[in-house]
Amino acid sequence: MMDLRILPTPGDLARAAAELFVARSNEAVAERGIFTIALSGGSTPKLLYQLLGDPNKPFREQVPWPSIHFFWTDERHVPPDHPESNYRMANEAMLSHVPVSRDDVHRVMSENPDAAEAAEDYEQTVLRIVPGKPSRFDLILLGVGTDGHTASIFSGSEVLHETKRLVAAPWVEKLKSYRITMTLPVINKAASVMFLVSGAEKAEIVKEMAQGPKRYPAQEVRPAELRWLLDREAASKL
Ligand code: 6PG
Repeated sequence: MMDLRILPTPGDLARAAAELFVARSNEAVAERGIFTIALSGGSTPKLLYQLLGDPNKPFREQVPWPSIHFFWTDERHVPPDHPESNYRMANEAMLSHVPVSRDDVHRVMSENPDAAEAAEDYEQTVLRIVPGKPSRFDLILLGVGTDGHTASIFSGSEVLHETKRLVAAPWVEKLKSYRITMTLPVINKAASVMFLVSGAEKAEIVKEMAQGPKRYPAQEVRPAELRWLLDREAASKL
């Protein structure tokens, strides 16, 4: 199933995503007692995380926080207190404001100078916590870069062709850095994947992916249930 929704503003996009988060988390906890989610990084999901963590907004009280296991779809090869840390962003925007058990917040040990080892460790954590053979997340959040990358799966990267590992540590030449990222096998195995895409700078890549041949990593994401939530600016060339 592929669902595309265009919301008027970034705020509307965050609210629509928050409603889906609340619905999915409660369904999973009712059925299986836990909800497993992988959070995306970058800037776009921050509004969603702030909304979910805000005590003055309706969502916080509707989420079964103590039954949720949090993971990250990818992480920068920096310590958890670094300004570029995806963990730090989600923790400051949401996790430090909600009653989640710290034991259930599974961040990448990205301070490990050996990125490959950090990826292997993270894969073991995913295999240990996330049910299914292979592990099947209830929900994975993703973004898309203006170059069509998603998570930290970039065009031309060997990780695009990964068929076994759930987590990898590709060197990203254009960033001159390693990244730790979930791979397509685990992303495409998820029960549901939701892309959040916001802003005029994304309009060109959105158009190319919607109208053009398959050329970009984000187009390799094909789980059983796929949602694209775009704001009007990101959808402006559709
Ligand atoms: C990261 C992300 C990455 C992100 C896109 C979009 O660590 O950077 O996980 O895949 O989703 O780069 O980033 P923005 O939301 O900042 O445009």
